[in-house]
Amino acid sequence: MLGVVKHAVKLTNGLLRRIGVQLVRTEGAQKPWDEAFADWIAKAKASGVDPNEVGDREWNGSALEGASRHLFHRVTQESVVLELGPGTGRYTRHVLPRCREMILVDYSTLVCGWLREYLRGRGQFRVQQIDKPTLSGVADGSVDFAFANGVFEHIDLDDTDVFLQEFHRVLKPSGALWFNFNTLMSPGGLRWFQQEEVKPGDRRLFRFYHPDLLKRMAEMRGFTKVSVTTDEGRFAYLEALK
Ligand SMILES: C[S@@+](CC[C@H](N)C(=O)[O-])C[C@H]1O[C@@H](n2cnc3c(N)ncnc32)[C@H](O)[C@@H]1O
Repeated sequence: MLGVVKHAVKLTNGLLRRIGVQLVRTEGAQKPWDEAFADWIAKAKASGVDPNEVGDREWNGSALEGASRHLFHRVTQESVVLELGPGTGRYTRHVLPRCREMILVDYSTLVCGWLREYLRGRGQFRVQQIDKPTLSGVADGSVDFAFANGVFEHIDLDDTDVFLQEFHRVLKPSGALWFNFNTLMSPGGLRWFQQEEVKPGDRRLFRFYHPDLLKRMAEMRGFTKVSVTTDEGRFAYLEALK
């Protein structure tokens, strides 16, 4: 079957080449953080530590501290918790033992494969790989708490809007949402934005939002009690209820 597809792509590319177009297989393609994640996993293997300790060190922050500050008060042993963009599981590994089940949603093949192996035996979880900004495969009203750390800095406004609608769809009534994002309105955000050199026509690694904009977008999609807090750093923190 694969041989037939490959042959068809070759033939089609032969025709398309005449007009300067080529078909490229994108499923399973490398995503921006995969190289860093593979590097942490390799370093951890070589030194006998957990890759997420390497990750914490390289990103200058303790995920346990972050989870204690922002997540644990939303999680009980009965909770179904959805995490968007779990990466190597820096936050996941601290949340999983505290809840009933985690649903882990990411677009990276490396991340999804890694988590299935890394989290085995640590609690109840399922991994959902996506190729669009949807939470497809997650039932309406089935999640108590949804969160994402370090993800919305990579997501443009239109996709953020779709994810907000999707979070609202999958959350139970009174379910909670938490995520952070980059803001240009804090000293740290402003500094970060200015320091990154971007050639004309290129794009920054991170997207930056105004806190009021994301608050309005969350309210527009039906969330209540939306609050956004900022500090000196580049992140703003959004909390809301369905
Ligand atoms: C900077 S990493 C953060 C990983 C993890 N949350 C942490 O704090 O260590 C961003 C994560 O979000 C995922 N991601 C980025 N954009 C995404 C998208 N549009 N859809 C699904 N996952 C995405 C990446 O694959 C990666 O796992």
